[in-house]
Amino acid sequence: MKVTIKSKREIDLMREAGHINFLAHQMIEPYIKVGVTTKELDKRIHDFVVKQDAYPSCLGYEGFPASACISVNDEVVHGIPGNRKLKNGDIVKLDFTVRKNGYESDMTRTYLVGEVDERVVQLVQDTKGALEAGMEMVKPGNQVGDISHAIEVYAHAHGLSVVEELCGHGIGTDMHEDPEVPNFGEAHTGLVLKPGMVIAIEPMLNLGKKDVVMLENGWTVVSEDGSPSAHFEHTVCVTEDGYEILTGE
Ligand code: MF3
Ligand code: CO
Ligand code: CO
Repeated sequence: MKVTIKSKREIDLMREAGHINFLAHQMIEPYIKVGVTTKELDKRIHDFVVKQDAYPSCLGYEGFPASACISVNDEVVHGIPGNRKLKNGDIVKLDFTVRKNGYESDMTRTYLVGEVDERVVQLVQDTKGALEAGMEMVKPGNQVGDISHAIEVYAHAHGLSVVEELCGHGIGTDMHEDPEVPNFGEAHTGLVLKPGMVIAIEPMLNLGKKDVVMLENGWTVVSEDGSPSAHFEHTVCVTEDGYEILTGE
């Protein structure tokens, strides 16, 4: 495992990339409405990011064909934008990376479309809560397992299941660096966090069972039982006394 410590200059660059990612999410929110296609959302994100002299680095990553992963309802991750129109009651996850000056940022939010079933609204709120519970464990001396464990405990306390096949990750000049940051595990295990480490934390929680399957397109992961899944992600750095969200305002 090769875990890098980023310098102040590198963190400043990552914050710049992360801020563009945040702004792109802010920009797209009003367009997430009944009738919009996921392709239209992808194009708006692409154009916005490029305008900031940045690159939407999902595009072409291991052959991924779009600038954003757009996953609806039971699609957990890596939905491919297309002609699908959003419907009343859908939830939609927008997960994309922004590269600027050679540094990556990674951020996901789950958005509501129209009137959403209250159990599903709760799933979305609780997945955001699970991300926050994970981030609260980020401080020097704590371990990656403390983050994983906090997310798992939070998810189970709220009656949700944790998708185990996909993890958070280190991030820097590469979108995916060491360490892996699972969304379940034992406290007081794993890599010890140090100031200057940067990780993407990203719980994916299901309303039904935890099991997932891959669609025939080779990218999109869906819940096996068809239950809705929510996902939130931030890129955070370890500071002297805690953490800072780099994909923020
Ligand atoms: N953003 C995803 C993550 O959270 C990775 C997407 S890779 C892509 O790690 F190729 F699907 F874009
Ligand atoms: Co992501
Ligand atoms: Co990620």
